[in-house]
Amino acid sequence: MTTREFASLAPNTRTPLIELEKVSKIYKMGAVEVNALQEIRLEIYDGEYVAIMGQSGSGKSTLMHILGCLDVPTSGSYRLSGVDVGRMSESELAEIRNRKIGFVFQQFHLLPRLPAWKNVELPLLYAGEKDHKRRRQMAEASLASVGLTERVNHRPTELSGGQQQRVAIARALVTNPSIILADEPTGNLASAQADEIMTIFESLHQQGRTVVIITHEPDIATRARRLVRIRDGQVIDDEAMVK
Ligand SMILES: Nc1ncnc2c1ncn2[C@@H]1O[C@H](COP(=O)(O)OP(=O)(O)OP(=O)(O)O)[C@@H](O)[C@H]1O
Ligand SMILES: [Mg+2]
Repeated sequence: MTTREFASLAPNTRTPLIELEKVSKIYKMGAVEVNALQEIRLEIYDGEYVAIMGQSGSGKSTLMHILGCLDVPTSGSYRLSGVDVGRMSESELAEIRNRKIGFVFQQFHLLPRLPAWKNVELPLLYAGEKDHKRRRQMAEASLASVGLTERVNHRPTELSGGQQQRVAIARALVTNPSIILADEPTGNLASAQADEIMTIFESLHQQGRTVVIITHEPDIATRARRLVRIRDGQVIDDEAMVK
């Protein structure tokens, strides 16, 4: 079967990349329980570009943490590429977080004392890449891919917000992950900078990566190809965006 034929298959004949079945998350705070997610069912296929939208407190970050294997559901199952995440060991989960998933957050989470390239090489260090030269080359190539060739030696405080977020994206991409998870990536940016970031996500999608972005802004969400709305921890709508 050619790639084109495979892509044209009805989705239900393929294995989803991400498959949540009745996923619930309850946070216990002493006697109080917060039902952050309630029986979420969600399937995301390889190469999709999905926005998850909802108001503050609707459960978006909780969902992202579960999708990214940073947290586990209270009940329900999560299969990633057909494999039950609940049955994976901590080291298998760490391996997946490191190699398969790239994270981008609202607050960039860069180390302030390190130049851009040293921030970007960190996931390679964690992955055990020992060749210093190779790490630096890969970090610089990743920074070049987000248009920061001229800024590899700048520290975060010497960069604009949009540039800091691009460093964070370069860091997420340096291990060549197939999935990008972004939680309010434009939340701290002015609209021109937000636009640049969204252009990068669009190109990541064009390259065939799976992109999941979380936002509460309709302007941002409608740039994806599919829009999943959540309210009170439940999926209330799931629609394809006509482009
Ligand atoms: N670690 C936690 N312990 C207890 N309750 C939590 C925890 N994290 C989140 N919650 C609660 O779970 C619900 C969902 O929170 P979550 O952070 O997923 O929302 P969100 O949609 O990301 O909101 P925002 O847009 O403000 O980031 C909220 O009611 C929140 O107060
Ligand atoms: Mg959040």
